[in-house]
Amino acid sequence: MSTVLIASNRGPLSFTRSDDGALTMRRGGGGLVSGLSEVASAGDMLWVCAALSDGDRGAARLAPAGRLDRAFDTRPVRMLDMPPAVFHRAYNAVANSTLWFVNHLLYDTPLSPEFGTRFRREWESYRDYNGAFALALAEEAAHGARVMVQDYHLTLTPAMLRVERPDLRIAHFSHTPWAPPEYFSLLPDDVAAEVLGGILGADHAGFLTARWARAFMDCCAAFLGAGVDHDARTVTHEGRTTRIGVHPLGVNGDALVARAAEPDVESHVAALRDLVGDRKLIVRIDRTELSKNIVRGLNAYREFLAAHPEWHGRVVHLAFAYPSRHDLPEYREYTAAVQRCAKEIEDEYGTDDWDPLILNVHDDYPRSLAAYRLADVLLVNPIRDGMNLVAKEGPILAPRCALVLSREAGAAAELGPESLLVNPFDISGTATALYLALTMPEEERARRGTRLREAATALPPHRWFEDQLHALG
Ligand code: G6P
Repeated sequence: MSTVLIASNRGPLSFTRSDDGALTMRRGGGGLVSGLSEVASAGDMLWVCAALSDGDRGAARLAPAGRLDRAFDTRPVRMLDMPPAVFHRAYNAVANSTLWFVNHLLYDTPLSPEFGTRFRREWESYRDYNGAFALALAEEAAHGARVMVQDYHLTLTPAMLRVERPDLRIAHFSHTPWAPPEYFSLLPDDVAAEVLGGILGADHAGFLTARWARAFMDCCAAFLGAGVDHDARTVTHEGRTTRIGVHPLGVNGDALVARAAEPDVESHVAALRDLVGDRKLIVRIDRTELSKNIVRGLNAYREFLAAHPEWHGRVVHLAFAYPSRHDLPEYREYTAAVQRCAKEIEDEYGTDDWDPLILNVHDDYPRSLAAYRLADVLLVNPIRDGMNLVAKEGPILAPRCALVLSREAGAAAELGPESLLVNPFDISGTATALYLALTMPEEERARRGTRLREAATALPPHRWFEDQLHALG
């Protein structure tokens, strides 16, 4: 029985199965996992997550009751092996399509959803999936334990768990933005109410910025008729009050600097120096994800090159765009669009001795750390983002790097004053910001860099997590 439990779709570990059937273990990816991995390795905590792949399912089946720590050399992790069809509908269809698209305002007319019988089947699976988490947590939690439920995959789990185990103290945390009511109203009314009511099953609902917390509270008032107190940050619904918290996750600067000084990163630094020479370097690092706005970022670089021939041959854009969620056609098409756009820029501007753009499409963490270290400009231009930890990691590793940052990223609330803020749809504005960032005087870079670093490390993951534990009492 555990006294602190974390529940999230993606866990700290993932497994791949090779042709001969052997399982290889790797760390899980994404902002949520990197933030939580550090805290969860500290104490005696149980992490409950879903099996995401065949490799994961193989590992979960080998472990007694899915407890990986009883079969492998890992921290306490319980991996839930659900029927693949249930998982697919919950994760791909509901969480990563409907809920992700709504909260990131990604729907436009041609992409707009249809909520018919097919969606209802998917929604049933989302309920089952959330129920499987609630059941596992109810089984594993000691009396009065604190349970930290993460993200949009698990919006229903808090209320379901409360029914099973009223003794528990439950928190929910959203790592994404939250949509304003006029956009959230895309969802069928009963689904909207179930999502909101599910989160309100928690004692404490956390968000990355005051803006997302406010949007959530507005949705609770609009769709549930809940009593909302914006000043006290509470929502009262069906006789229970949930406290709303704002916890802007930051980065553990010392750990990141130490990791980025390891030999594998050093050798990438040397290789990148050879590649880039004395040219200036613009870096971006993202999952290839529609909300990250990579194509508009590349087109902004293209406009910058068109407007500033004096920079031809003197700058390189190193863009990391790792594959993500390729079970969804929208993501596969987006990946192809990114690659097409990169090729056009190469064809248009590349010469025998200058590659204006280098696109990295493979997940290579040490190489991306090396890129941060050498960056003169970091471009982070999401359409909308819960926080965006790239914007915080960059200034820690590259103290003289200028940050071009979307005003729609949660990180803008803290980093805005020292960044060059852009409207993510305004390609020309972003091109101008790239120019200003490249030509920013040294002294100004250093001054802004110091403040960016302070803001980025203000709430490192262990403190971010402790704050939420304390909020639970
Ligand atoms: C975002 C979400 C996380 C998620 C990550 C990676 O950061 O907030 O919950 O884990 O993206 O996405 P994936 O679908 O690969 O887990």
